[in-house]
Amino acid sequence: MKILITAGPTREYIDPVRFISNPATGTLGFMIAKKAKKKGHDVIVIAGPCEIPPLKGIKVFSVESALEMQDRVERYFPLVDVLIMTAAVSDWRPARMYKQKIKIKRNWKLNLIANPDILKTVSRRKNRNQIIVGFALESENILENARKKLKKKRLDLIVANSISNFGNTSKKTDIFFLFSDGTTKKVFCTKARLASLLLGEIEKLVSRKQH
Ligand code: C5P
Repeated sequence: MKILITAGPTREYIDPVRFISNPATGTLGFMIAKKAKKKGHDVIVIAGPCEIPPLKGIKVFSVESALEMQDRVERYFPLVDVLIMTAAVSDWRPARMYKQKIKIKRNWKLNLIANPDILKTVSRRKNRNQIIVGFALESENILENARKKLKKKRLDLIVANSISNFGNTSKKTDIFFLFSDGTTKKVFCTKARLASLLLGEIEKLVSRKQH
């Protein structure tokens, strides 16, 4: 399979030295990329700013903002069988980016505008054999919210977990796989195990589409 994986956070600049972002590390995306490569798949990674050493045999494109990520994803999506969107894309960006460093003010309002939903845009152009996987990190009603996102973004599979699991890679946590046919699977595992289980599920989805 040809697999496109996004990883890490995005940065939305306010001025040349300040930005809006989140603490995503890109760990899971890169774990999936490494395992997929080991299994013989072709892998491309589009990564927001994260400190992960280069991976042998894997093409990594570095981006900063959600718009840059969207541009790369749209360019590479037509060439792959699978898109796995682990990136924690910033939902908003400043309405304008100041060219000069903003001087300290006691009180000021920062105007934010919504970033495009990358998954929603690319899933409109998906062909019958392509698989799209999204992630949902939820602070409440995990299954209900994830199911809504699965539908809204027209995904084949969404991987959902609780916000309390954020960042910790070695801890085992509850993770849910929600499929577009309405089925759900619950697993209790580490991120490394999740990467293997997810690839197994994707391989099954791809072979089902091809038959
Ligand atoms: O809606 P929410 O941000 O929770 O959805 C998470 C999923 O959507 C992730 O797979 C993330 O990579 C993707 N996403 C996106 N474009 C955005 C925000 C999130 O593709 N602007």
